[in-house]
Amino acid sequence: MSASVTVRVPAKVNVQLAVGAARPDGFHDLANVFLAVGLYDEVTATPADTLRITADGRGADQIPLDRTNLAARAAELLAARHGIAPGVHLHLAKDIPVAGGMAGGSADAAGALLACGTLWSTGASREELLDICAELGSDVPFSLVGGAALGQGRGELLTPLTVGGTFHWVFAVADGGLSTPAVYREFDRLTQGTDVHAPEASAAVLTALESGDATALAGALTNDLQPAALSLRPSLTATLDAGTEAGALAALVSGSGPTTAFLVKDPEAAQRVAAALTASGTCGAVRTAVSPAVGATVL
Ligand code: C5P
Repeated sequence: MSASVTVRVPAKVNVQLAVGAARPDGFHDLANVFLAVGLYDEVTATPADTLRITADGRGADQIPLDRTNLAARAAELLAARHGIAPGVHLHLAKDIPVAGGMAGGSADAAGALLACGTLWSTGASREELLDICAELGSDVPFSLVGGAALGQGRGELLTPLTVGGTFHWVFAVADGGLSTPAVYREFDRLTQGTDVHAPEASAAVLTALESGDATALAGALTNDLQPAALSLRPSLTATLDAGTEAGALAALVSGSGPTTAFLVKDPEAAQRVAAALTASGTCGAVRTAVSPAVGATVL
């Protein structure tokens, strides 16, 4: 039996997040344009007597190491489907901001699934893995495939998108995470009594991605969850302003937040905006990254 399998998985930013009204099942229909960015977690699966999780790296002390961790649930679901005992030690090397709106937990779940599938030689097809991903969470299928994709339904129904160039980003990590369900609840509260439209993919976003045009993408970025995230965390406005004043092409909350994302022209602009954000004292760690990035990959 091979000693261990390590899988690298990227973070994501939403370049469009159009949110519809709450559905009877509590989820919201989305038009969610995911773009994978080159910040990565690594998941290592090693044979063990029982399922065990350890973690190190950025924010590792904030994640659960029991069976509530989505990576553990991924291993259990795959094992159950294939009649295997989930005897595996999963080690999560964290670099994606925890509870930050960049799909770190989803990345770990997708990584655990691919690592365990490889370790156990389940022979699970891509379709089966995507199916399990969708059962685990709305963002997990995208963590597996990476690149860029339009997510519909609750975000799990993916259509791959073409990206015609490299986009440069700066991410400002906020101190303390935001709970995704809480942000959606706040969205419901803020939109109560208003006419919430059915979400539709933005042609401007798709065209800008395809042409690799950062200025066009900057003009087209939208996030319907941003007012909710700002309502729960008003201090994020100062971070957004600091990045805009420093010359970012656009500033927005990443997914449900509280990480803020700044699209910039080139690597030099990324360094300038990152330095200004750090100096502003309005956020925690500041990271730079490029997109697109490939999905979950066995190293
Ligand atoms: O799918 P996932 O487990 O990541 O979703 C976490 C929570 O976020 C859900 O329980 C729900 O409250 C909210 N959500 C939603 N609509 C979506 C995706 C997530 O309301 N499309």
